[in-house]
Amino acid sequence: MNATTPQPLSLPPVAVPGLPADFRWGVATSAYQIEGAAAEDGRTPSIWDTFCRVPGAVIRGEHGDVACDHYHRVAEDVELIAGLGVDTYRFSLAWPRIQPGGGGPANAKGLDFYKRLIDELHGKNITPWITLYHWDLPQELEDAGGWPARDTAYRFADYAALAYEALGDRVEHWTTLNEPWCSAMLGYDSGVHAPGRTHFPDAIRAVHHLLLGHGLASRRIREAAGDNPLELGITLNLGTATPETDSEADREACRRADGLGRRIYLDPLVHGRYPEDVVADLARRGAQLPVRDGDLETIAAPLDVLGVNFYSGTLFSGTTEDGATEDADGLPVTRGVRRDLPRTAMDWEITPGSLTELLLRLERDYGVPTVITENGAAFDDTVAADGSVPDADRTAYVADHIAAVAAARERGADVRGYFAWSLMDNFEWAYGYDKRFGIVRVDYDTQARTLKDSAKWYRDTIRLTRGTPAP
Ligand code: FCB
Repeated sequence: MNATTPQPLSLPPVAVPGLPADFRWGVATSAYQIEGAAAEDGRTPSIWDTFCRVPGAVIRGEHGDVACDHYHRVAEDVELIAGLGVDTYRFSLAWPRIQPGGGGPANAKGLDFYKRLIDELHGKNITPWITLYHWDLPQELEDAGGWPARDTAYRFADYAALAYEALGDRVEHWTTLNEPWCSAMLGYDSGVHAPGRTHFPDAIRAVHHLLLGHGLASRRIREAAGDNPLELGITLNLGTATPETDSEADREACRRADGLGRRIYLDPLVHGRYPEDVVADLARRGAQLPVRDGDLETIAAPLDVLGVNFYSGTLFSGTTEDGATEDADGLPVTRGVRRDLPRTAMDWEITPGSLTELLLRLERDYGVPTVITENGAAFDDTVAADGSVPDADRTAYVADHIAAVAAARERGADVRGYFAWSLMDNFEWAYGYDKRFGIVRVDYDTQARTLKDSAKWYRDTIRLTRGTPAP
């Protein structure tokens, strides 16, 4: 919300109608964004350690060397999570901590850290939900070609098997990848994320190899799990594409955006095929998915749950602002159109209704149970004189999106949980520490954690919705 938008009033927490008592409530983080201890206990650099050192890549040249120092504050942070009354904590494993260099045996010290975290969580009755890959590819694997190289998918499956072997006895909920769209498109096409490459055909190769890695890893994990309880899935960042007008050009722009943003992932994962129109769009742009025999069967491994990360929906036009339907390269225009809507500090439009729309569409077209594995907002928080953080804007954002989830459930979408992004302020990738997504504030000078008003609202809303008495 910008300076001219009035702050919403603080919302009182109330039970959310339509959400059952066994609805899963959580908070989420990822390794590189919070852990710090970048060079401790055998961890080797990932592509993000390298990328952060590229001049201009990250605001003020910031990096995750210390971040929230979570590596040294596990007990305190689990206490914090427990105080929120959530039942689930979603976090990621740092691949270069568990398997330094991206190959070979597991690093016992790296595993010990996660065992400690998991044991602390169990001690507080909090369910651990592991993401295997939240963007920290070991640098050596990038040097060998990164995700555009097929071998990376096999290396990922080896790492997944190693992690599951060590932690599978204590963790039931496993997500292979977080947001492969970001890994592929931001990492290899626009280059705004690590490793910072800008070659569209390579980004499309990365898409296929990420999905292949998911399929190979899923197979290894299922085999290793045997009869042990397991809920296995993948998390995608998903939005909606709405045409600006009913024109053919605008509807085509939405088809293309939806194809490259969603169907290129969901169709192979759930239906075992890439959409033909997307393959044709890619060919026009000189790119192709490097599919080999058997790959699609591998990618369509059974999914117990689809993780949905939702932040915003987008309006699309098929013309430039001057009315042209083709860009300088003769390609059809797919242009996101800015609407006059409230926005977050990321400049993302606030569109809770799109979340309902998305969840109903996922139910209709894919039919896999979903959990919102990330939803939340960055705002420019202020700390009041008494030390409190009155973030009414974030509270309103979270409340509206939880209501949107409940609305989707009432209309038949099988959505089973909601995890707030994020537990605490952290390293927001190319934005460094500039953007604060936490429901808990982190003072980076002292590492003090303070519940923002949104955290208190979330805690009380969960309690009221579950119908449990106040402590
Ligand atoms: C998602 C990422 C997460 C965080 C949020 C704001 O794309 O998965 O790490 O950066 O956006």
